[in-house]
Amino acid sequence: MAPGLLGAAAAVLAAVASFAAHVTLNCPVQPVPSTPRPPTPPPNNLLQRLEKLGQGALDAPEDVYVDAAAGGALYTATRDGWLQRMHPNNGSWERWRFVGGTGLLGVAPSADGTMLVCDADKGLLRVGEEGVTLLASEVEGSPIRFSDAAIEASDGMVYFSDASTRFGFDRWFYDFLESRATGRLLRYDPRNGETSVVLDRLSFANGVALPRDETFVVVCETRGFRCMKVWLKGEKAGKAETFVDNLPGAPDNIRLGSDGHYWIALHLRSPWPDFITRWTFTKRVVASFPVLLKWSKATTKGAMVAQVSEDGNIVRVLDDSEGKVINSVTSVTEFNGDIFLGSLTTNFVGKLSLAQVTQQEQGAMSS
Ligand SMILES: *[C@@H]1O[C@H](CO)[C@@H](O)[C@H](O)[C@H]1NC(C)=O
Repeated sequence: MAPGLLGAAAAVLAAVASFAAHVTLNCPVQPVPSTPRPPTPPPNNLLQRLEKLGQGALDAPEDVYVDAAAGGALYTATRDGWLQRMHPNNGSWERWRFVGGTGLLGVAPSADGTMLVCDADKGLLRVGEEGVTLLASEVEGSPIRFSDAAIEASDGMVYFSDASTRFGFDRWFYDFLESRATGRLLRYDPRNGETSVVLDRLSFANGVALPRDETFVVVCETRGFRCMKVWLKGEKAGKAETFVDNLPGAPDNIRLGSDGHYWIALHLRSPWPDFITRWTFTKRVVASFPVLLKWSKATTKGAMVAQVSEDGNIVRVLDDSEGKVINSVTSVTEFNGDIFLGSLTTNFVGKLSLAQVTQQEQGAMSS
């Protein structure tokens, strides 16, 4: 071999060795294989018809709660640490209660008039006129690392999710790459202030919902493309089974809609994240280089929501396949014939009239 070639070969070998050493020494994740992504239906882009509420005033409104008793007042928590409220009569937004932090996610009403808020960094909070109370920050001796979504049952029990016991909100992408099922569904009992584990080993525990009769509780597993249900009443009380699986996207929040249907926000997977999660080796490489990590996070585009029947069948899917109007929808809340969309990448809450969408769906079918 010519000396020049030998030098080049040595340089390549040295580069490969230092790359391998870097990945070996710096990789912060111990990845396992990811669940393959189920097929996605052809795009319909119906979400592009949405109207933007509070544009510019809302920094990443992840979850939206609509107070029907107050004529449709909207509540959302934003990255500036505020719980914000929209007055239904004039559409104006008000900074309603200051909570603080950057990790406010799920918002849910409590029977006593206060609001339950999931602070990803602190745990489960109660926010009322008297201020903010931390209800739960650990469970059975282990910290609640990533409080995500909550719902209160009529008996006062609060069901809420802890997405991951490995990585917090600011490091969710590591959890995505590592793909270990460490999420949990938790229950807070207001009578004694104790929190217990209802279901563990969840692939990123996210949205939580209750059917009208509260016979079970649903929790979505983002990385498993499914939602589980745990029976609360009857012979099967305590048992877990699949509620809906093979979702065409990764489920985030789930909420009960009209007629007992549910709405689920879904994250679409783009080719690059699909590629890097195919092998544990590529996951390790991406996790080891901050530049690659940052870039990989930014490649996910598009938004999708699904309506699911009471017995867990997908009724319809609405999307914005390339994210032209909205990306990364994290929650869907139905009220009075409209759906309201939250997202961690917008500065508005989306509002879409279902009557308009139905007309367009029928138009598309007949054309
Ligand atoms: C909107 O309505 C609320 C409640 O009635 C009121 O407090 C607020 O001042 C109104 N805002 C505007 C801009 O009119």
